[in-house]
Amino acid sequence: MTDQPKKTFTLTNDQTGESIKLPVEEGTMGPATIDIRTLYAQTGHFTLDPSFTATGSCKSRITYIDGEEGVLLHRGYSIEELTEKSNALEVAYLLLYGELPSKEEMKEFDHNITTHTLVHEQVHHFFRGFRRDAHPMAIMVAVVGALAAFYHDSLDIWDVRQREISAHRLIAKIPTIAAMTYKYSQGQPFVYPKNDLGYAENFLHMCFSLPVEDYKVSPVLAEAMDRIMILHADHEQNASTSTVRIAGSSQANPFTCISSGIASLWGPAHGGANQAVLEMLAEIGTKDRIPEFIARAKDKEDPFRLMGFGHRVYKNIDPRATVLKDSCHDVLKEMGVESDPTFELAMELERIALTDPYFIDRKLFPNVDFYSGIILRAMGFPTEMFTVLFAVSRTVGWISQWKEMIEEPSLRIGRPRQLYTGETERKYVGIGKR
Ligand code: CMC
Repeated sequence: MTDQPKKTFTLTNDQTGESIKLPVEEGTMGPATIDIRTLYAQTGHFTLDPSFTATGSCKSRITYIDGEEGVLLHRGYSIEELTEKSNALEVAYLLLYGELPSKEEMKEFDHNITTHTLVHEQVHHFFRGFRRDAHPMAIMVAVVGALAAFYHDSLDIWDVRQREISAHRLIAKIPTIAAMTYKYSQGQPFVYPKNDLGYAENFLHMCFSLPVEDYKVSPVLAEAMDRIMILHADHEQNASTSTVRIAGSSQANPFTCISSGIASLWGPAHGGANQAVLEMLAEIGTKDRIPEFIARAKDKEDPFRLMGFGHRVYKNIDPRATVLKDSCHDVLKEMGVESDPTFELAMELERIALTDPYFIDRKLFPNVDFYSGIILRAMGFPTEMFTVLFAVSRTVGWISQWKEMIEEPSLRIGRPRQLYTGETERKYVGIGKR
């Protein structure tokens, strides 16, 4: 077999006329990349790409997105097929290990997750230091980061088995911690996990059951939660995942890395959008006020944006939003809400926005956050919990991406450069002379 000639990209300095050839690397799908690692050594120039609109930060085999076509694949499997045929725990295995599990592998993984769901009792005391009205994401950042103070036996990131135990612990404990933040905000007792329940079912049980009465998780709601978990499980190198990778590149332990991902997710431009969507819909209130808000979203003088619309990568419908819109109907029916005014308002807003040239020209479509909040609210979650549920679901993606990065032999600390635009060197002037 003959070697394919290596592809290159020629870059010419228009001032000096000098050219260099940079290697072009192709993945299995998607745009090829120009490898610029030798650029500075060869030319004395850095690249400038604030917000990383054209920069690949790593090679990854986990998730593929085609934003133009609205395609999302995990390890090659489409999100539509996974939500229809798989379940959250199987998708967690797939993301973490790269293949769908055999029956035996699934049984073992299920056991490993189920037997790690309890958190150290000391964590309960830790919770009590927070105000009851604290935002649950603030508690999540703190408690998940603090797991490093409880599980010393799995902090050696160079030990394969310890990495695996930390990954299992995070996937297993994050629903328990999230449910505790909810219970704490409600002034209700923490509910311990139950090992005979499924992953999503157990989470709902920990959130909504009380010690004083029997509680049976509705299979429809458990399925919808499982679906939400799959849909949010990973999304390649988004802000929070990149945060986890950068934190991990310094060889920080996985618990603090995931905590930094939770912090990044909290922002309204990212995972915080699901809370912001519901707040926006409440503010709009009635269908007749939609044009007023559409006009505000288009007004460059007004910082208001249509929350749950637009995406850095998707320039077509976000496939996750399509699946969630369907789930909305099932959940609302199960909760006995035949016609939900918020859902109807959301659908009308979507209809109007999708026929408006401003949104059409900029390819702004509903994203995953547009419908998830409506489902979560119908299930009984307060809006402050919405981003927490995103964090619960995304933990598996974060830890899979972290694991992939640590296992990369060429791992080096992430360290972007900059274009300095500040003062040149100057002399210090004493305070009396300024
Ligand atoms: N409402 C009104 N205009 C918008 C919106 C919006 N939601 N999103 C983008 N635009 C406009 C923007 O003003 C700009 O217009 P122009 O070209 O005239 O200056 C153009 O569309 C391109 O926007 P951008 O800000 O350059 O796009 P970006 O890739 O930097 O931002 C985004 C992506 C998701 C942050 C942005 O679309 C946004 O703020 N959306 C609302 C928040 C949201 O729903 N976030 C959840 C994202 S999906 C889940 C997740 O990632 O966590």
